[in-house]
Amino acid sequence: MLKLEFPKGFLWGAATSAHQVEGGNHNDWTEWEVANANRLADEASRKNIQNPSPYEGEGPANGGRVRLDSPLNPQNYISGLACDHYNRFHEDFDIAKSLNHNAHRFSIEWSRIEPEEGKWDEKEIEHYREVIKALRERGIEPFVTLWHWTNPVWFANRGGWVRNDSPLIFARFCKKIAESFPDVKYWVTLNEPEAFPRHGYLTKDRPPAKGGLLQMFKALQNLARAHKEAYATMKKVNKSFCIGYSESSVYFEPFNRMPQNILAMKFLRWWRNNPFFGRMAENSDFIGLQFYFHTRVRIGSKSQWWFQFNENKKVSDFGWEIYPEGIYHVLKELKKYNKPIYITENGLADAKDRYRAEFIRDHLKWMHKAISEGVDVRGYLHWSLLDNFEWQQGFWPRFGLVEMDYKTMERKPRQSAHTYAKIAEENSLEV
Ligand code: BGC
Repeated sequence: MLKLEFPKGFLWGAATSAHQVEGGNHNDWTEWEVANANRLADEASRKNIQNPSPYEGEGPANGGRVRLDSPLNPQNYISGLACDHYNRFHEDFDIAKSLNHNAHRFSIEWSRIEPEEGKWDEKEIEHYREVIKALRERGIEPFVTLWHWTNPVWFANRGGWVRNDSPLIFARFCKKIAESFPDVKYWVTLNEPEAFPRHGYLTKDRPPAKGGLLQMFKALQNLARAHKEAYATMKKVNKSFCIGYSESSVYFEPFNRMPQNILAMKFLRWWRNNPFFGRMAENSDFIGLQFYFHTRVRIGSKSQWWFQFNENKKVSDFGWEIYPEGIYHVLKELKKYNKPIYITENGLADAKDRYRAEFIRDHLKWMHKAISEGVDVRGYLHWSLLDNFEWQQGFWPRFGLVEMDYKTMERKPRQSAHTYAKIAEENSLEV
């Protein structure tokens, strides 16, 4: 048996985001959820999406009751109380500590801190002070995200990220937070800033669900500027802050060596992975990598001009291919930026916990290979600590190391959480 050791001081933990776990938020997403819940439930019923969760299913067996987290139930699409993490964070951090986590990524909800433009809610700042304190008391390093896709309603209503002054408005919020928590070391300004414009303005399956290509580019550009502004402003507050951003990088490979497939792969790699890494890496102390996807690209099939031809030997409950080797290739690609890298997300929807332990072990094995070849990876934060509200899919996908019973709010670490806890404790992996 071989023991793969990770660098000394490696950070091990999990990630969450405010809107997905806290409950009781009011932002542009909550408004969108209410407006779209019935439509999403209808669509799920037309597509016959099944709930893979091991709980009792809906239908005649349980007297026709439809569970909260059934894709067929409109309530599934409303974040509502979520995991009530806002009130139960002590309990959740106790669990994280019992699982040997020494770092935790969470986000501060902008709409709580600045419910009206330019007005700060000191009570909410106090709340996050408690959150940070609770982590520190348990020896867990906070990794604070400043924007994880949700916006205050006033910001969204006044044009959101297509507004020219949006970067400055966001940087003002970041400054307030930085001044409030000068002792936090790790900051993630933006979570996957590429995804928000793509879904919001192009595919329109998430808020603001309007606009088009032009607005998408505008928002992309403003988000990149927002990161830069936030970085500069926050560094003035404390120059030893370690500030980065998180981006999801896809491992693209050509289906075969046909020139058109290689070319298409190169274009997609550039388009999907570069707009942010390229521009934002300069103004960052580290890169946050979120790894979920692998795509084998093939041009010119019958029905579409390009196609994804993954082997899909194993897929998550979401149908996403499980391809751990991809993390190695993506890490090698990121080496060119010459920055420390933290894996700020990597995980899968797996209600029955069939693949999660193996998924973690395999990704860590490939991550270790990248480290041994000189990539400066300093931490791994699994997505997610808890099952949570998975955006437009709602509650049914189960990403947690810890299983949530949404009826009783009981939390129960899954078997895979213990596999991960052992790796974290030993700072090594036996293969
Ligand atoms: C997002 C998370 C999300 C996860 C799984 C990431 O891109 O940052 O909020 O839950 O993917 O879909």
